[in-house]
Amino acid sequence: KKGKVCVVGSFNLDIVAGMSRFPQPGESLIAHNSMMGAGGKGANQAVAALRAGARVHYIGKVGRDDFGTFARRHLDSVGFDAVTLFSTADHPTGNALIYVAGADAENMIAVDPGANLTFTLEEIEQCRPAIAAADILLTQLENNLPAIEKVIAIAKEAQTYIILNPAPFQPVSDALLAKVDLLTPNATECSLLTGIQVQDMASAQQAAQVLHGKGIQALIITLGTQGALLSVAGQAQWIAAFAAVPKDTTGAGDAFNGSLAAQLASGVPLADAASFASAYASVCVERAGAAASMPDYAEALARQASATLETTA
Ligand code: RIB
Ligand code: NA
Repeated sequence: KKGKVCVVGSFNLDIVAGMSRFPQPGESLIAHNSMMGAGGKGANQAVAALRAGARVHYIGKVGRDDFGTFARRHLDSVGFDAVTLFSTADHPTGNALIYVAGADAENMIAVDPGANLTFTLEEIEQCRPAIAAADILLTQLENNLPAIEKVIAIAKEAQTYIILNPAPFQPVSDALLAKVDLLTPNATECSLLTGIQVQDMASAQQAAQVLHGKGIQALIITLGTQGALLSVAGQAQWIAAFAAVPKDTTGAGDAFNGSLAAQLASGVPLADAASFASAYASVCVERAGAAASMPDYAEALARQASATLETTA
């Protein structure tokens, strides 16, 4: 069954430069390639959920500028069930300047959220039917917090399952966290949320206890190539990472979250959904760009199957 995912989140226009190394302050360094593409954690996760097999309603906000026109064209062309795109004349469309460098294809990102920070509570109220109609509400922290709080409150009232990917980190109240059904921080976000330096499975387990103490039932702490820790009511389970040949890690977290939401919306149990999301993200890092690098369902399934063959051979 195709589940229904509603994503409320950011759109950014990304300009990505592939570098042999990161530039130093004051240095002009020649890139070996560059691309302009659709990004923003919200829009990326929406594309991932769609390609992973869900029906998706994306809700975002852009500026009335050229990047906003680009956003509309992109969002109308990917195949969402519905797009609700608010706009403002007072702020630019969100944009991100991204360097990708090094053997691990790591990135460095400067984000101007612009219009993403200008959702009004009235606009969010207009989205109530879309949030209520979804199996899963997926959101992040790349928009203004009062708007996100209202999105989560509406989902809670409508009994829509809530996934919060707390990225990029901004301080949130414990009251907000307690409303979330599934929290999906990466190591950095988890450290900032708990004060525990999360770097491996052991420290992730400690941090998980702290987060459960704040009233969070289920969480997945993603640890990149180390895999992820799934912890439900204090019961921890390790989710293996899939080997990849990294080309551009931009959007890996978004790939994980979007595909996870698609799986959960179609009724797949949490641990299986997390494993699929891990395979899905491993394909994403092998491709350039953010939204452009999201694989489809079959590609992630093939990654999962080939890895299983390797270990049973
Ligand atoms: O998660 C990756 C995204 O973060 C990029 O697409 C960029 O827009 C930033 O928001
Ligand atoms: Na990528």
